Amino acid sequence: MSGKVVFRDVSFSYRPDQPLISHLSFTANPGDTVAIVGPTGAGKTTLINLLMRFYDVDSGDIEIDDVNTKTVALEEVRRQFGMVLQDAWLYHATIADNIRLGQLEATDYEVVDAAKTANVDHFVRTLPDGYQFVIDEEAQNVSLGQKQLLTIARAVLADPKILILDEATSSVDTRLEQLLQEAMDRVMQGRTSFVIAHRLSTIRHADLILVMNHGQIIEQGNHEQLLEQNGFYAKLYQSQFGDADDLGTE
Ligand SMILES: Nc1ncnc2c1ncn2[C@@H]1O[C@H](COP(=O)(O)OP(=O)(O)OP(=O)(O)O)[C@@H](O)[C@H]1O
Ligand SMILES: [Mg+2]
Repeated sequence: MSGKVVFRDVSFSYRPDQPLISHLSFTANPGDTVAIVGPTGAGKTTLINLLMRFYDVDSGDIEIDDVNTKTVALEEVRRQFGMVLQDAWLYHATIADNIRLGQLEATDYEVVDAAKTANVDHFVRTLPDGYQFVIDEEAQNVSLGQKQLLTIARAVLADPKILILDEATSSVDTRLEQLLQEAMDRVMQGRTSFVIAHRLSTIRHADLILVMNHGQIIEQGNHEQLLEQNGFYAKLYQSQFGDADDLGTE
């Protein structure tokens, strides 16, 4: 299995006078789920930006399967990633074509298959025109949760080596939440995934949690190890999930 990611002593800032990421190192093994947590402005999105080379590091190295991404063409780097983002972009086009963006040559059969894996086939079939239903200009005629499921279908179809997920913070109803969780678990199965995580269940089950603050990874490990350290993560966890029953995720 491939999808090993290594950050080695990476430093980066958007502006030279404002140092941000400093001497950051970690290793994600093939198939790992890596949860990135930390307060707003900690550098979570920046870490993803560097990984996908939306920005280049100032110093240090980022390797994917032992290849320094600096030595590879941009398209080559990006092709390895699939993204499921918070504000899912859907286009004024049919549902089928929106899913097909994951893989332009996909057949109708493959589109439906991906939709099934992403738990969205059932919903699509309730729409007038089904897969030929046209998303309107503002993408207002499907709900937020349904949009997320559709972008998961797109990622399933793309079948990327590495997956980036930015979990939605906005709440969807319990049923949709379940469908989403299940679809995410399926698409993450067997591939390296980086999740900017808000769901307790994602964080708990992650192989590696990177706890970020002020551009640094201040703690790393799995849930149990980090709770044991009784440091920043333990505090963050208590403050966010102290009354976990309220979240309805576990
Ligand atoms: N394009 C940019 N140009 C300049 N500064 C930026 C840019 N993007 C982010 N920053 C700054 O870098 C720091 C880290 O931002 P980043 O977006 O990585 O945080 P985050 O952990 O993703 O936060 P959030 O939880 O709010 O999404 C912040 O201080 C932010 O203001
Ligand atoms: Mg962010």
